[in-house]
Amino acid sequence: MDKIIVLDFGSQYNQLIARRVRELGVYSEIVPYNVDIEELSKKDVKGVILSGGPNSVYDEFAPHITKELYNINKPILGICYGMQITQFLFDGKVSPSDKREYGKSVLTITKDSDLTFGLPEKSTVWMSHGDHVDELSKEFDLLGTTPSCMAIAKHQELPIYNLQFHPEVTHSEYGKQILENFTLKVCKATPSWDLEDYIDETINSIKKKVGNHQVILALSGGVDSSVAATLIHRAIGDQLTCIFVDTGLLRKDEGDKVMKLYKDHYHINVIRANAQEQFLSSLKGVKDPEQKRKIIGNEFIKVFESFKEEHKDAKFLAQGTIYPDVIESVSINGPSETIKSHHNVGGLPDELDFELLEPLRELFKDEVRKVGLKLGIPSHMIMRHPFPGPGLGIRILGDISEAKVKILQEADDIFIDELYRNNLYDSVSQAFVVLLPVKSVGVMGDKRTYEYVCAVRSADTVDFMTATFSRLPFDFLDNVASRIINEVRGINRVVYDITSKPPGTIEWE
Ligand code: XMP
Repeated sequence: MDKIIVLDFGSQYNQLIARRVRELGVYSEIVPYNVDIEELSKKDVKGVILSGGPNSVYDEFAPHITKELYNINKPILGICYGMQITQFLFDGKVSPSDKREYGKSVLTITKDSDLTFGLPEKSTVWMSHGDHVDELSKEFDLLGTTPSCMAIAKHQELPIYNLQFHPEVTHSEYGKQILENFTLKVCKATPSWDLEDYIDETINSIKKKVGNHQVILALSGGVDSSVAATLIHRAIGDQLTCIFVDTGLLRKDEGDKVMKLYKDHYHINVIRANAQEQFLSSLKGVKDPEQKRKIIGNEFIKVFESFKEEHKDAKFLAQGTIYPDVIESVSINGPSETIKSHHNVGGLPDELDFELLEPLRELFKDEVRKVGLKLGIPSHMIMRHPFPGPGLGIRILGDISEAKVKILQEADDIFIDELYRNNLYDSVSQAFVVLLPVKSVGVMGDKRTYEYVCAVRSADTVDFMTATFSRLPFDFLDNVASRIINEVRGINRVVYDITSKPPGTIEWE
């Protein structure tokens, strides 16, 4: 299958570049900038994109490549840092700058090329750079400018292109067109990345890899593990056994819903470990958030280990690891500090003696969702907001009790129900209720009340790294608050969280 390689110089946008290329139907992979040049010379690689990055080419630990890379005889597109490093290596003049140019600018095309085919003479582009090119290498022609810099360049003989701006972000008006021109016109890659084929091929490769062996999977009910379970079940049927750990800290009726869908409807072997008492008793009296997370994580591993004892014949452990978890991204502190598969609460330790089966390793989240829908998982399950591994354990501030869990489940269910009823659920990224360890005075009927306060939280975000609170209509919030106070015994006051991230986090603990 034809592919485009994105060389990672540490840009926060490099996943976006690969996703844009995949949207064109061409497979794209992100690899560290210091990958073997032989990898790039392989036949299926149709072109290489050098990503942006936070460094100056003059920084002591800036990620450097050698000029040899440009001899692979394939189209190369350098974006931002990718342009600066190219110009630096071809004896252009790159000037360092203390000030970053950040924001929109107007691009003027001064000379036509395959890369800018279909673009008007002037359009908006997005800039985010420190260094800039002062003098272009003598081997390059200038194809476009912005008022402050040389914006597009091309080597006179080789298929090497440079862009100072970021075509991958939506603020660059014709960015998509530029990446399409590069991928399809310049690299002539054949669009053969198709999720239907991916499903078929993955099912075949799971069958081959697993043979007659048994596979176990920890099913959380979240998108990734559910899609992984469904895909693996298609391949090997009853050789797959899932464990669903009911920690007692899940959303209202979550355990029943997951069991109904995956066990009764899809006939997947799912064992429900009813560990509510075990979790609640080990959390008794614990108030510290970090300690709560640790306890929940350890209890989860204990449950899983005893399940493993009962399934000694299992050779494979399946996980819903997805592509953003496995990319070895270059960080500002150098390539040694890489981001590996993340293990958070609900994750399993590395020492477990299994072979791993990770059928979603190559997919971005939106692709995982598409695969889930193609496999027939209902869209309300696939489009659900994320839910943290420690569950309600970090949404009940202070110590946890069964009674508090019930109160929170009811209040949370009302909020989510109202979001669905008012067609607001899909327009926010994550919404939930938090139970505070605070009581306040109220009046209901003629009676004085003294009950808990809960906080309603809804965040809008793209990547969950930064977020703003959702501007939900006041009438809607009014209705949510009165339903919670009227229907949930134990809560007499509702507040709305208007904190952004940073400085806040999405969760409260
Ligand atoms: P914060 O609160 O850090 O959360 O802004 C960002 C996103 O991560 C989720 N989250 C977790 N997910 N285990 C998880 O699986 C955890 O321990 C955990 N802590 C936070 C949170 O729900 C949000 O989507």
